[in-house]
Amino acid sequence: MSRKWTLHEVRQKYLDFFKAKGHTIIPSASLVPENDPTTLFTGSGMQPLVPYLLGKEHQLGTRLANSQKCFRAEDIEEVGDNRHTTFFEMLGNWSLGDYWKQEELPWLFEFLTKEIKISKERLWVTCFEGDPAFGLPRDMESAEIWEKLGIPKERIHFYGGEKNWWSRSGHPENMPVGEPGGPDSEVFYEFTQVPHDPKFGEKCHPNCDCGRFMEIGNSVFMEYRKTENGFEKLPRRNVDFGGGLERITTAANDEPDVFKIDIFAPAIDALEQTSGKSYSNALHQRSFRIIADHTRAAAKLMEDGVAPSNVGQGYMLRRLLRRAILFADKLSARLDERFREEEKRFRKTLADGLRHFKGLSARDISGHDAFLLFSSYGFPLDLTLDLAREGGIAVDIDGFSQEFEKHQEVSRAGAEKKFRGGLADTSEVSVKYHTATHLLHQALRDVLGGEVRQKGSNITPERLRFDFSFPRKLTSEEVARAEKIVNEKIAANLPVHAVTLSLGEAQKSGALHFFDEKYPDKVLVHYIGDTLETAYSKEFCGGPHVQNTGTLGHFKVSKEEAVSAGVRRIKAIFET
Ligand code: ALA
Repeated sequence: MSRKWTLHEVRQKYLDFFKAKGHTIIPSASLVPENDPTTLFTGSGMQPLVPYLLGKEHQLGTRLANSQKCFRAEDIEEVGDNRHTTFFEMLGNWSLGDYWKQEELPWLFEFLTKEIKISKERLWVTCFEGDPAFGLPRDMESAEIWEKLGIPKERIHFYGGEKNWWSRSGHPENMPVGEPGGPDSEVFYEFTQVPHDPKFGEKCHPNCDCGRFMEIGNSVFMEYRKTENGFEKLPRRNVDFGGGLERITTAANDEPDVFKIDIFAPAIDALEQTSGKSYSNALHQRSFRIIADHTRAAAKLMEDGVAPSNVGQGYMLRRLLRRAILFADKLSARLDERFREEEKRFRKTLADGLRHFKGLSARDISGHDAFLLFSSYGFPLDLTLDLAREGGIAVDIDGFSQEFEKHQEVSRAGAEKKFRGGLADTSEVSVKYHTATHLLHQALRDVLGGEVRQKGSNITPERLRFDFSFPRKLTSEEVARAEKIVNEKIAANLPVHAVTLSLGEAQKSGALHFFDEKYPDKVLVHYIGDTLETAYSKEFCGGPHVQNTGTLGHFKVSKEEAVSAGVRRIKAIFET
């Protein structure tokens, strides 16, 4: 290795490379999916693109690429090893019925070995071994392409549906009807300086978890859709590539620890300084990694409008923050200002929780008690286990897990209801709320001034919810004025138009957009009014919208409240 890559450099190289191969660079979607009933978080780059992967036309073409922010809650327990993080960026490139294996694999190989100069001797790949039960063939085509590129047979491994098949629900067996998926081919980097740990099995191999191999990318050849009886071919076959940016950077640096890349350095340094402990000390490494990951992930979730709470996304954020606080205590380190509020709240129950624990600890702790500590006193299982270990008593972990799953099911069902509720049957109402959101955004700027900027939006058939930057509570007069403007624009029966503009033209038009987001070269602008020049509202937005504001109902703000310092939230409804 001749130099150390930064995360930013690798991201830029990737986007430039795929742009040169005819891809349009699209922005990253929010970590909180809008109106997606299937999941609480965006966990892969393909997720926001599912409608297009299923056949819908994408206005920016058939070759797309980006770096998508992702959060995988299911990996929280894995954090602490050399490669797992809950938040990460996924580099992605997509072919929507355009190129196929013969382009994808050589391009990926070229990017890895030429652009960021990873030694091809360290690359191993895996391919789908087939699944006769579903009539799915072995992927010899990919294996042959890899061999031609110079990966010897010994470094090409075949695995089954558990490993080399990709869909959002995993194995072919688990996919719901209608879900797209296909065989995939993964690329692994081998850290030859890491000796195999026999604890993980006699022999090391690409999918061994000992830390010698790291998966750095996955090309999914999405050509199937699940049916009642098996699989059918999609009308157009797609390529869905995803690779963890942090991991690819780690491999480019030939440094087997993800937490050694540049973006984690400030956190690790600060923790070392405030705790007086060293990251290189194996005893503390897990705590350092958990704090560095959880605080980064928590900050990213908050940036996308999540606030700590007891349900859904907010519950996950709370878990991250509390775990980070506990592990910081272990190291005697201090956390960032931003997490103070949650820390205060947690400390309030922490003392009570410790007292409750003492009361229980004359005997072993049942699953029910461990869960009560968790749900009522905010004790993550780790903390209960640590305390129990110190006191020499046991904890019923399986019992805890059962209680925990029950709870998760309840909150998941709640979340599904919230999203799915209207989408299926009243999506028309959601579209109306979407157009009303644009009117509200502009009306708030008229009333409060240009510092008002959208921070988040969430629409259900029951209401719209709009988060925006503003430093104080709105007066009732201000709310009434904004309401009145929106209702005037509705009464004026204004047309809603969409135009595709170059990024420069769009910016020049004054259309509202997020300043800190990267936009593609061409963007869609929705404007409300007769012409782009005279329109009342202009925004970068993919739609959908109604054709005329006259179809909206009477607009009424139902709530105005704080989300966090400097961010307000308005909920509004149509009164019939
Ligand atoms: N969507 C694929 C993955 O997440 C690329 O692995």
